Amino acid sequence: MKELVDILRDEQHLESRNYKALLECDDESVVTYLHEQAQNVAIEHFGHGIFVRGLVELTNVCRNDCYYCGIRKSNSNVERYVLTTEQVLQSCKRGYELGFRTFVLQGGELSREKAPWIIDLIGEIRKRWSDCAITLSLGEWPRDVYKAMRKAGADRYLLRHETHNAEHYGKLHPTEMSLNNRIQCLSWLKELGYQVGTGIMVGSPCQSLDNIVEDIEFIEHFKPEMIGLGPFIPQHDTPFASHHVGSAELTCRLYSIFRLMFPNALIPSTTALNSITPKGRIMGIKAGSNVVMPNLSPTEYRDNYALYDGKSHINAEAAEGIAQLEAQLASIGYHINWSRGDFKPTIKRKL
Ligand code: 5AD
Repeated sequence: MKELVDILRDEQHLESRNYKALLECDDESVVTYLHEQAQNVAIEHFGHGIFVRGLVELTNVCRNDCYYCGIRKSNSNVERYVLTTEQVLQSCKRGYELGFRTFVLQGGELSREKAPWIIDLIGEIRKRWSDCAITLSLGEWPRDVYKAMRKAGADRYLLRHETHNAEHYGKLHPTEMSLNNRIQCLSWLKELGYQVGTGIMVGSPCQSLDNIVEDIEFIEHFKPEMIGLGPFIPQHDTPFASHHVGSAELTCRLYSIFRLMFPNALIPSTTALNSITPKGRIMGIKAGSNVVMPNLSPTEYRDNYALYDGKSHINAEAAEGIAQLEAQLASIGYHINWSRGDFKPTIKRKL
């Protein structure tokens, strides 16, 4: 089995059945080897620096009704908010002063009429902090809106495909949503010159290992600059409230597979991973991830942005806890890399 890891590292590709074999493998020594190789590749490309992105949770209002998500529109137990322009700019200002050079605007999908407000907001952030990268994670929009957002100054876009199997997609989302549209959005974003991120929840309801292999192969083919993966975590007001939590171990295994497949990709050690296990972030970094996304949102709104139960937004997961994050990274010989951390297409391979 270790040779599969070597092949993936050297050729950045495996046959479907071998991806599945790696996902299924219960030999601890192979899994350890996979993580070691992935961590080595990450260090070869990025050193011991971990990029940070300041996350601003713009709104928990959402026009969609994804069955797994705590801010789905039919959840009437959520106190809805939309940050004001001033609150967003204040959050960015605080982030800038702390040293952040990437802002991620994430939120539920607002109604179409709100697009001009978002576009103006992007323009304002671009004008005030011209040396910062602006990443959006705001869901599905028509092409012309993505285009206007890009023109206003957005550089990157995160849009997880969630699953590349249409039947599985249908089990996670209401019929108004479709995998085709999600994939269409991803290809528009690419065409428009965004650095694009996609990904899945690990252990989402009805997901099989074969589905994950399909996701790996879609990502292999799509070649995103960023890959976002976190365990599924139930939220008590959703139809999947009693579904079990996704596996941290499998999430980390996927970080390693994607690191070997894409040596220079930006792969966050996600909040979801850190929310289910106290050492989650460190496990993720040791498996080859190289980004963390602390929360910059005004503290009084954070509880309302509850995509899942137990979402961590304090201590090292929060911008105010940056010293704690630094200490945590230092404990494993890493540090924060404060640069914008853009995707660099040149692949330096060790000869
Ligand atoms: N558990 C884990 N991740 C979730 N997300 C939404 N709901 C959950 C949940 N219950 C993830 C989705 C989405 C991202 C913003 O958050 O993958 O793309």
